[in-house]
Amino acid sequence: MSGKAAERSTALKSMPAILYGTAWKDTRTADLVFTAFLQGFRGVDTAAQRKHYREDLVGKGVHQACAQLGLARGDVWIQTKFTPVSGQDTTGYVPYDVHAPVAEQVCASFQASLANLHPEQPIPSVTELVAKYAVTARGNRNKAPTPPPAHQVYIDSYLLHSPMTTLQSTLEAWRVLEALVDTGLVRQIGVSNVYDPQIFQTLFQLARIKPSIVQNRWHSSTGHDVSLLPLFSPQMSPNTFPPPAYTDVEAPHGVTYQPFWTLSGNQRLLDSDTVAVLAIKHSLTPAQVVYAFVHQGLGIPGLRTCVLSGTKNEAHMEEAVQAVSLDAWEEDDLTALRAEVYGE
Ligand SMILES: NC(=O)c1ccc[n+]([C@@H]2O[C@H](COP(=O)([O-])OP(=O)(O)OC[C@H]3O[C@@H](n4cnc5c(N)ncnc54)[C@H](OP(=O)(O)O)[C@@H]3O)[C@@H](O)[C@H]2O)c1
Repeated sequence: MSGKAAERSTALKSMPAILYGTAWKDTRTADLVFTAFLQGFRGVDTAAQRKHYREDLVGKGVHQACAQLGLARGDVWIQTKFTPVSGQDTTGYVPYDVHAPVAEQVCASFQASLANLHPEQPIPSVTELVAKYAVTARGNRNKAPTPPPAHQVYIDSYLLHSPMTTLQSTLEAWRVLEALVDTGLVRQIGVSNVYDPQIFQTLFQLARIKPSIVQNRWHSSTGHDVSLLPLFSPQMSPNTFPPPAYTDVEAPHGVTYQPFWTLSGNQRLLDSDTVAVLAIKHSLTPAQVVYAFVHQGLGIPGLRTCVLSGTKNEAHMEEAVQAVSLDAWEEDDLTALRAEVYGE
């Protein structure tokens, strides 16, 4: 990205259809990210959580891929997360002081993420920019919001890795995510591991800048998020989806759903006759059928999705990219898959 880092105004208009999942790759992380980009991925999902991710090596892999493929910062999508203390291995590296107030933890974690994900770039001070641009910062409250500058380094989407243990601390963290959008250092914000519709709706209602991404385990143990998904679709939900402040991301389009465990948590679906028939019909592997189903909105009108694939296999990388590049299927195909998953 060096010398080529694009201004935000030239950044991707929206999240790619698929992100490369970088969990559990340890020292192979940079090489696998690089290979994924060679196979057509243009975005990554990571987290500031050393227990499962090497965010620093994700940055290296993206940097190498951009140099090799002639991509600018604006050609790729970088998503990372703030992981609360409950999700960290506190016997190892944690990117913040675990005893600090939540707001300080988020700022410190984000500062570390910016540096990890933009190797060889000058990194601005997050706290200085928050003080200058955050709508709720002292001194800014009665002023009209100042549009933030375009930055050379930024995060496309930043997620709260899970709700905190109390609503108050969840909101404290969320206020910082909103402030990061105000600074122009973050384009979209979202939340992960939120399975209770009431918790999601409370956050949605109280948020000044609404969550526009939910990353959840797609699994029978949580009913494959059956009661949450309609809330994310502007067509199915009475919620309104105002465009996020100051962003050039296409809006409004509801909440983008990013499922994980899509393959590893759904062996019964992968082995089903429905998937087998569609695999033959479309000349795909069963894994591709499931990714295509997710990509095409799980049969829910208006639902936007983003596939997460963390494969370590080069052929599977290519197959995953192909599965999200197909023309839209007939309604009957999606209905059959929907019946298989949701019993409808
Ligand atoms: N927010 C959270 O709490 C959370 C939790 C879990 C995961 N995530 C994110 O989601 C990403 C994806 O994780 P995941 O748990 O869904 O699993 P995954 O890493 O995408 O892959 C799961 C399994 O599926 C296999 N596989 C992948 N593509 C395949 C294909 N085309 N054909 C056949 N098998 C295939 C993989 O084997 P091969 O490697 O051999 O292909 C692997 O054994 C993570 O890297 C992370 O970024 C987030």
